[in-house]
Amino acid sequence: MWNGQWMIVAVAVLLSLTAVTEGRDFSDLQGPYCAGRQSRCCPDRRDDCSVPILGTRCYCDDFCNRTNNEDCCPDYWKVCLGMDWNPAPLGRCYYNGQYYNFNEAVKINCNLCKCQQAGTRVELLCEQNVCLVEPEIISRVNTGGYSFSWRASNYSTFWGRRLDEGISLRLGTLQPQKAVMRMRPLTPVYDHRRLPRSFDARNKWHGLIEGVRDQGWCGSSWALSTVSVASDRFAVMSQGLEKVQLSAQHLLACNNRGQRACEGGHLDRAWLFLRKFGVVDEPCYPYTAGYGFLERCRLPKRSNLLTARCKPPSHPQTVLRTDLYRMGPSYRLGSEQDIMYEIMESGPVQATMKVYPDFFLYRSGVYHHSGNGPSGYHSVRIIGWGEEVTQREPIKFWLVANSWGSQWGENGYFRIRRGVNECEIEDFVLAAWADTHVQSVPTRPPTLNNQLSNVI
Ligand SMILES: *[C@@H]1O[C@H](CO)[C@@H](O)[C@H](O)[C@H]1NC(C)=O
Ligand SMILES: *[C@@H]1O[C@H](CO)[C@@H](O)[C@H](O)[C@H]1NC(C)=O
Repeated sequence: MWNGQWMIVAVAVLLSLTAVTEGRDFSDLQGPYCAGRQSRCCPDRRDDCSVPILGTRCYCDDFCNRTNNEDCCPDYWKVCLGMDWNPAPLGRCYYNGQYYNFNEAVKINCNLCKCQQAGTRVELLCEQNVCLVEPEIISRVNTGGYSFSWRASNYSTFWGRRLDEGISLRLGTLQPQKAVMRMRPLTPVYDHRRLPRSFDARNKWHGLIEGVRDQGWCGSSWALSTVSVASDRFAVMSQGLEKVQLSAQHLLACNNRGQRACEGGHLDRAWLFLRKFGVVDEPCYPYTAGYGFLERCRLPKRSNLLTARCKPPSHPQTVLRTDLYRMGPSYRLGSEQDIMYEIMESGPVQATMKVYPDFFLYRSGVYHHSGNGPSGYHSVRIIGWGEEVTQREPIKFWLVANSWGSQWGENGYFRIRRGVNECEIEDFVLAAWADTHVQSVPTRPPTLNNQLSNVI
């Protein structure tokens, strides 16, 4: 059989004969070439270990098992290597401008492929996993015109990984249990007309809002988003006196009852841990889980900053703290405007969203999901909102910090449609007050005092 790759090599080697043999079955070329020799196969290249075939010479020596084997006799494999089939003597596989030798393995994106016999031909046979970066999604989004308000791109950290690895190791928030979803949202009282069209917590509280973290290959968004929101609220509510980056590793490793560490966690349990026990700061218990290894909890539940041997707070005159950083009860916010009001008054909030395969490839713009496929839950930190001006009507968005490092998306952040519960992002929004140790600052939101039955 004359398939493509045989043709290309054949043209080079047997130039004058292609016209004669074209259209003939490849099995025509099989013959007792190596078998016909007295001494059968030669261990090394010897000029006398050859047989004329179709006007050139074919070799019956072990040099045939090497990179460039286009002059092997067709029965070399059978006679010399005892294989009960004959791969094409010029049997190499061709993919994307490159040749692969027989038996050679190559990884194409997230799939391992091997150049092997497939019926009468030699072909590159691949695993069939769905990859985290599927080039079709990128081109569908980027050539989709007006139906897409965002752009997609390839990420080298995601290339070569399977979609199921992305879902289990880049997300990591367990869907809220029914009892938790029944938690009634708070209804703050305020003037809706006073909400601005755009808001960015980083501008209102300059220098007090955390940057973007990177969870690495660990399904720990539940822990990272919780401590990030808590850190922001410590800084905001202490007016900078307790600006602290709280330890995600502490929560991840030590909040282990009913939680699944790098395989995901429940947000209500995370907030409850921060309320009952608290955590230390990041330098005292740094994040190491992203490299796929999670050590066991190394701090007992009733520790304090001294027994944990953490550095003391940086404002010892105004902040009297030896105990861990704890949060007040967490509460839920139920509508677009209530979420906006909460962010503007008290700082960033935590949201849970459903992640579809195309989200991993988000590069810029206002995200909305396209297409379906396997999905998982992920928690993130909403830090503001705005409106994207387009040629059509403006698109309202949330401004959100992800936890995939600053190389992803818009410097680690993304924007997503607001007011339409895109990817369920407005369904389960949580916040809490920080238990700051600065005397002059209020410790409870006014709306919380009479609604304590609604908190976790
Ligand atoms: C070619 O030789 C290598 C080592 O010399 C061996 O591992 C490999 O299996 C051989 N290939 C075939 C198809 O026999
Ligand atoms: C994606 O990026 C990786 C690593 O940078 C690269 O090897 C691969 O060819 C890229 N894929 C596409 C479809 O651009």
